[in-house]
Amino acid sequence: MAKPTTVHVCSACGHETPRWAGQCPGCNEWNTLVEEPRITASKGRSSRAGASKAASPARAPVKLGEVKAEDHRRLPTGIGELDNVLGGGLVPGSLVLIGGAPGIGKSTLTTMALANMCGAGRKTLYVSAEESAAQIRLRAQRLGGSALEIPVIAETDLGTVLATLEAERPEVVVVDSVQTIASDEMTSAAGSVAQVREVADAIMRVAKAQQTAVLLVGHVTKEGALAGPRVLEHLVDAVLQFEGERERTYRTVRAIKNRFGSTNEAGVFEMRDNGLVEVLDPSARFVAEATRAPGSVVLCAMEGSRPLLVEVQALVNPSELEQPRRVVAGIDRNRLALVLAVLGRHAGIGLGNADVFVNVVGGVRVDEPGADLAVALAVASAAKSTALGNGQPLGCFGELGLTGELRSVGHADRRIAEAQKFGLAQVIEPTRHAVIRRAVGAALG
Ligand code: TYD
Ligand code: MG
Repeated sequence: MAKPTTVHVCSACGHETPRWAGQCPGCNEWNTLVEEPRITASKGRSSRAGASKAASPARAPVKLGEVKAEDHRRLPTGIGELDNVLGGGLVPGSLVLIGGAPGIGKSTLTTMALANMCGAGRKTLYVSAEESAAQIRLRAQRLGGSALEIPVIAETDLGTVLATLEAERPEVVVVDSVQTIASDEMTSAAGSVAQVREVADAIMRVAKAQQTAVLLVGHVTKEGALAGPRVLEHLVDAVLQFEGERERTYRTVRAIKNRFGSTNEAGVFEMRDNGLVEVLDPSARFVAEATRAPGSVVLCAMEGSRPLLVEVQALVNPSELEQPRRVVAGIDRNRLALVLAVLGRHAGIGLGNADVFVNVVGGVRVDEPGADLAVALAVASAAKSTALGNGQPLGCFGELGLTGELRSVGHADRRIAEAQKFGLAQVIEPTRHAVIRRAVGAALG
């Protein structure tokens, strides 16, 4: 039987299967398998690997303690929050992937970083495969500084990009974006899993050889329809996630993988008319903006290793639907389901016939169990139409257990200190209130 000429590749995890299926056998995502031509080059590669196995000599392993640890020289980007997330700046020869939804500000952030480095006398290059040079110029004009000094090429052909990299030998290059560059040696379209991998791999080889630091921009779509940058995660040295909502001003950058630093750091930015501005004291901003109306509470969250105070709001309204609405922004929807169940069972607040909306203000995302209590208190306050804390500003944090107990979460002391620093006289937290019923009672007064 003739070998099929195509394979089905998962755009989320890169798993390959000969036959199409609705659900990827690799990562269990739905509707992510796309048909792509089978690459004969990889067949050649594997047979070479097989042949070399026989011929290659063995090597003597060395003890880890005797391995020379490289001291990574860093190239600071001049954007404090970004450097912090990167662990001190870009490492020469490394590949950093910046993922985020279209319009979030990836091109703006990378242009600003290049402008700073250009201004500091470094050799930079901006490769745009998405916008024309004229469009990038318009952005650079808004950003000011040394942005107009950045050397740029608008190019989508991988071969040309690699040749330019080798000819120019920049210290830092931005490739915007990995999904729009394609190798003409492959038949599949730009953005397909095979192309995205090939592009990243080829750029990485050149970058490592000539010690160029690469910022690779990648789009993530909610549907995962495009070959998501997830297929690149194992290849690159660091993955930064740019989050927030396009319509909102606040955005966060966090590392979800970092070979040269911690993945606990996050930076908060605000999009202004002349670019992204670092929000150095986001807690002050969010606390000042908090409404203190029924349904509002301040969550003492952790953004990586930094405490952050954010307002959580809830709205509870009688539902006209058979299946009431559960709408969330900034928290996990399943977490809301859990909180509602615990409130109903252990705090006497049943909301089976009500629509519930929960929102973390400012477009911030809080993905930590410590947010449970804030969601519970905001919902309880909204359901009872009573402002929390008797008019006194109130903070809270804690995880909800299924039996109605409040469970402690990390960095309690730092969360409390942050709350006190910003004038939240009362903090509802697990060490003071053991169960949800008592916490709700104390908060509602
Ligand atoms: P952009 O960086 O192009 O997003 P991405 O590369 O992630 O797709 O810009 C995002 C949005 O930000 C865009 O709609 C325009 C806006 N913007 C500002 O508000 N101020 C600015 O100074 C710039 C450059 C862009
Ligand atoms: Mg862009």
